[in-house]
Amino acid sequence: MQSATWDGRKVHRKLCINMQSDAAYQKCINPDCGAEYDCGQAIFKCPGCGELLDVRYNWDRIEVPKKLNDFAQRWRSRNNRLDFSGVWRFRELLNFCEDKYKVTIGEGQTILQQNDEAAKYVDMRPGCLYLQYEGLNPSGSFKDNGMAAAFSHAMMIGAKSCACASTGNTSASMALYAASLRLKSTVFVGSGRIAFGKLAQAMDYGAQTLQIHGDFDDCMRQVQDVCAKLGLYLVNSLNPFRLEGQKAIMYRIIEQMGWNVPDWIVVPGGNLGNSSAFGKAFWELKELGLIKQIPRMAIINATGASTLFDLVNDKKLAWNNGRVNQKIIDDYYADLTARKFSPHTCASAIEISRPVNLKKCLRAINITNGVVRKVPDEEILDAKAIVGKYGLGCEPASAATIAGLRHLVAEGVIGGDEKVACVLTGHPLKDPNITVNYHKERQGQFSNQPIEAPNDLDEIIKLIG
Ligand code: F0G
Repeated sequence: MQSATWDGRKVHRKLCINMQSDAAYQKCINPDCGAEYDCGQAIFKCPGCGELLDVRYNWDRIEVPKKLNDFAQRWRSRNNRLDFSGVWRFRELLNFCEDKYKVTIGEGQTILQQNDEAAKYVDMRPGCLYLQYEGLNPSGSFKDNGMAAAFSHAMMIGAKSCACASTGNTSASMALYAASLRLKSTVFVGSGRIAFGKLAQAMDYGAQTLQIHGDFDDCMRQVQDVCAKLGLYLVNSLNPFRLEGQKAIMYRIIEQMGWNVPDWIVVPGGNLGNSSAFGKAFWELKELGLIKQIPRMAIINATGASTLFDLVNDKKLAWNNGRVNQKIIDDYYADLTARKFSPHTCASAIEISRPVNLKKCLRAINITNGVVRKVPDEEILDAKAIVGKYGLGCEPASAATIAGLRHLVAEGVIGGDEKVACVLTGHPLKDPNITVNYHKERQGQFSNQPIEAPNDLDEIIKLIG
């Protein structure tokens, strides 16, 4: 039997299946454990030591293109569903399952926009700042990149139902993919802590929606126990297969920059899945000889949910070749518990104080020579208004990137003439309340207040002036 490879050549199907099944495996990130598991298991934490798992590849068994722009050939065959997908058109870089299991609903048709007005706002030169609009995905956020991969793994292992904890976007995305596959899905959201657009999606796509009396971190704890007890397939970013899909966001930025890497990637930090995935993507591309230089990464927390910032900048927590100082983390969390701390920010998507991917993120910071900053809500809202006025708009968490970039340029960490790509993670309609309040209540310097007008032609003309 014949099947097509990445460059359209024909290979023997049997060979292809073998290649794909032994080409990928799971591996514990703890160097003192390093246990390996096959991809047919949904375990999500190392059964040996409890640490996070990676998906790893035997690259010599995968036909990876010799250069990145070979992927451009896929545009010619985009009537093939996998070549159309903004995730699977790079499938040799995340080939953990056979093509027949690969799930797509057309994710990843996103654009990278040069935005000179936003550049001016952050004091950068024209032509240097690029905005990657992940809000253009089917469910309106970057999560769809990850869900395409996670649900492919779910199909591969025959999962029948799935669950997640969420600040909103994961639930919307999971619910949409699950509905497309007719799987049952259950979401755990913190009661009153989820933007309306996202809650609306989860309900509309048919997910069973549990509003837990607690915050995201409480939901995250509960969902892990529930999944273990009831055998539900967990699609949070603890799931290493999901993070494989999110690597594609970086591939598309490179693609849209003419197959070149930017100098910097700026990304909001919540549960730290994206930053972890991006670091892994660059590490692998470098290892494969597909890029020469790894971009630096800036991860931006909100001031009201600044665990990563505090641990990295104040407590000097670092990857340390995988031997992360657990005591620093334990002490920090014990202090949060003692103070009954619950995170608060207008950027509800990143309102998280115990990020599950912390250690992978530390690794990504190490790989990318990364930095972490935090920004207050007022600056997030002003930056969001700039993206709305001069770009395609975004939700608050996404705008933290622009606010953080402004600090980094002012500090001289990022040069005004470097090439920077900010990942705008979610669509503006996800959180209409925040936007309406900002403009109506004149909350910031870019508020654009609506004007009350009498139902009278002359008066209306006078008002338009
Ligand atoms: N931006 C948006 C719009 C998000 O929804 C999230 C995370 C992030 C940024 C942070 O990304 O977790 O990879 O660091 N939202 C998750 C959710 C937590 O449940 O929807 P991260």
